[in-house]
Amino acid sequence: MTTIAFDVYGTLIDTAGIVEALREFAGDRAPLMAGRWRDKQLEYSFRRAVMRDYVDFAVCTKQALDFNCSMMGVDIPIAGREALLGHYRRLPAFDDALPSLRALQGKGMRLFAFSNGRADDVEQLLQTNELRGCFEGVVSLQAARTFKPDPAAYNWFLQQAKCSADETWLVSGNPFDVLGSLACGFFAAWLRRSEDAVFDPWERAPTIVVDSLIAFGSHWS
Ligand code: LAC
Repeated sequence: MTTIAFDVYGTLIDTAGIVEALREFAGDRAPLMAGRWRDKQLEYSFRRAVMRDYVDFAVCTKQALDFNCSMMGVDIPIAGREALLGHYRRLPAFDDALPSLRALQGKGMRLFAFSNGRADDVEQLLQTNELRGCFEGVVSLQAARTFKPDPAAYNWFLQQAKCSADETWLVSGNPFDVLGSLACGFFAAWLRRSEDAVFDPWERAPTIVVDSLIAFGSHWS
């Protein structure tokens, strides 16, 4: 039976949803700061995985915010930083997430959410956005104490979901995640939400490229 693992941040959940909350502190630089915050959060997760020096993803998120406050000279008091991190736990879903997951339900596939995020954060995000009921399970890497694209992360997914790579798809808006899963033998759909997005010119290509989750769902009809 086909198993589909949906990445969470940047695939189902829109990390740019933090921009409005950031405007209070960063003004017109809020979109730039949101992008840098996300990039630094991922960089920290990559470095933590390579160094085998695990902290949970919420710590990467907090430290990436602190870094960018200093780097960009944006003065955010402690209470403001905590409020922003609270917003991060209630980020919005992309509009196409719920309809596409609902359409995929009942097609005989096993659907999972699969994320670097802490287990409680991912559960809350999915529940806040009414997506939780679409999934058979949520696989957080918190218990595995590593991050994508460590091969151990994808093998952790296979172990938790009790499936094999040759029957498993990853759907992700993050090219590093697509490449990580392909390297472990998964099929992978790259969700290219923006025409400006560029896939890494490595030696592997996504199995399919789609411009929305709806288009991914259509692949199965
Ligand atoms: C996740 C990261 C890749 O949700 O954003 O796993």
